[in-house]
Amino acid sequence: MNPPNPGNSASTIAEAQYQNTTKNLERRIAIYKYSTNPQSWLSFVASHISPVLGTSPKILDVGAGTGELWKNVSFTSSADLTLADFSSAMCSKLQDLEVPNAHVNVVQCDAAKIPFEDGSFDILVATNLLHHVESPPACIAEFARVLKPGASVFISATSRDSSVNGLYGLSRKIGRTQSAGTFSKHTTESAVEEMERYFRGVRKESYAASLEVPGLEPVLDYLETLPGGVLTEEERKLATDIVGKEIAENGSFTVHNSSDLVIGINS
Ligand SMILES: C[S@@+](CC[C@H](N)C(=O)[O-])C[C@H]1O[C@@H](n2cnc3c(N)ncnc32)[C@H](O)[C@@H]1O
Repeated sequence: MNPPNPGNSASTIAEAQYQNTTKNLERRIAIYKYSTNPQSWLSFVASHISPVLGTSPKILDVGAGTGELWKNVSFTSSADLTLADFSSAMCSKLQDLEVPNAHVNVVQCDAAKIPFEDGSFDILVATNLLHHVESPPACIAEFARVLKPGASVFISATSRDSSVNGLYGLSRKIGRTQSAGTFSKHTTESAVEEMERYFRGVRKESYAASLEVPGLEPVLDYLETLPGGVLTEEERKLATDIVGKEIAENGSFTVHNSSDLVIGINS
């Protein structure tokens, strides 16, 4: 699939999912209240960023979405926080984000073309972004370019198994062929090798959080945020059969999810 705009890395699906709305992301985040892990993913990510904040850090979050991550980070000294996203809807929402002790700057740009000079940032974060782009390696190279030597980078990756058996997998089981992410291009299995081309000391921190969803509606609502939108009668029936059967047998619909935070230091 070609990128929708020449020179940009966003996939056509990401454009449709995010360019003009924050709702798909917000409705998807809602299902994580059924997580079995008492620590949220965002709090987990924040716990790895906090130790490297130092004083007055210059931070870039690429594909920042609605900026939820930054509600989990406490800045004890002033920080310069740049939130970048290609979506005008996300950028508009990000303009209202207030983070104590941080000066927030919002930039609308593509992850493969970041409008900052070489060596501009101390920390770069890109969570749940790279499975949405056409060329993860091009974005990772761009991340290395805008980071100072010795700076820290944090990206996330999902295992192939989670993408096949998780909620995106359920979407395919009911006949939807398009998934929201191009997982074939960026998974836990490929992320470390890609990161090692530019960063040293690359390591993975694993986060496991299954979802145990007690009712049908949150799952159907999630499915409707994925490509294809509102479920047809037949898709709804198929999903109801699969999910309803499991809830009847086990009391909940379980989705085994695991993600990794991949951390590196710029060379
Ligand atoms: C799944 S959301 C993740 C949001 C946030 N980082 C999080 O972890 O909750 C993916 C975000 O990446 C943005 N995005 C997708 N492709 C992009 C690209 N090529 N350049 C910049 N942002 C992109 C979308 O607009 C969306 O806000």
